Amino acid sequence: MMNSTQANDIQEDETEFTDLKKIIKRKIGFNCEDYKQAHLKRRLAVRLRVTKSKSYKEYSDILLKSAEEERLLKETLTVNVTELFRNPEMFESVRANVLPELIKSKGENRVLKIWSAGCSNGEEASSIAIMLREFLGASFKRYNISILCTDIDEDSLSKAEKATFNPKQLEKISKERLDRYFVKTDNSYILNDELKKLLKVKHHDMISGPKLSGFDLIYCRNVTIYFEQKLQEVLYQNFYNALNEGGYFVMGKTESLVGPAGRMFKAVDLKERIYQRKERI
Ligand SMILES: C[S@@+](CC[C@H](N)C(=O)[O-])C[C@H]1O[C@@H](n2cnc3c(N)ncnc32)[C@H](O)[C@@H]1O
Repeated sequence: MMNSTQANDIQEDETEFTDLKKIIKRKIGFNCEDYKQAHLKRRLAVRLRVTKSKSYKEYSDILLKSAEEERLLKETLTVNVTELFRNPEMFESVRANVLPELIKSKGENRVLKIWSAGCSNGEEASSIAIMLREFLGASFKRYNISILCTDIDEDSLSKAEKATFNPKQLEKISKERLDRYFVKTDNSYILNDELKKLLKVKHHDMISGPKLSGFDLIYCRNVTIYFEQKLQEVLYQNFYNALNEGGYFVMGKTESLVGPAGRMFKAVDLKERIYQRKERI
């Protein structure tokens, strides 16, 4: 079936679209079928426009010939928008409603395992590290904390590993936090060593990668929104299984706990999408 998107005059042939998805899977390992098809088409339209392709077939031919186009497409498909303390009210709610209980439940076992799933450039994980440092104060050093940062995008992972931010990325950070938790270099700021060493950065695909476990707190925000609902349902159950008893799960503000997982978690702060694993379902 042929469709023409008026805004960019792209001929949308479904057979060509299917062929292009196969090429994308083969060339860049991105499994298009898992993503919302309308979202995928919008992202592809960006590259079709830039390359002046009039159809998926024309674009496929370019993609097959150009390593640079492969790189640019991957960049376009993995939406990496993020920021330090994105949705500050959510961080405030975690500080007030999660950390006191979580730390109390740990008692003498001072091991804290956190996972930022779909971490992008690491802003979320760096914010979590700062939040924990502020909450634990002088007792911070007595805890063995790790923050696993995972993503499928290698460029993002190498940025997350560096934990280095330019002044624009730090615009909303208070001067006090900037002075206390970052080290200034020529034209950027690096998260200080005490916090940076908490971050463990790894490539991991939450759809096809190995199942992880043992976490006290999982952040998976603004990632599943791009996935088909069936897949979201599976992933939320995986996150349940990845948590320790009584562990916490934080989602993005526009995401909702669909499927069986809706009964497996209780809301800690519904508005901020903060949930706790239920032990009796
Ligand atoms: C919009 S960013 C969200 C960053 C951060 N969580 C936040 O809310 O600010 C989405 C990230 O999810 C990553 N991503 C997409 N599909 C993924 C998958 N299957 N497994 C792991 N990460 C994925 C993308 O590469 C991107 O860096």
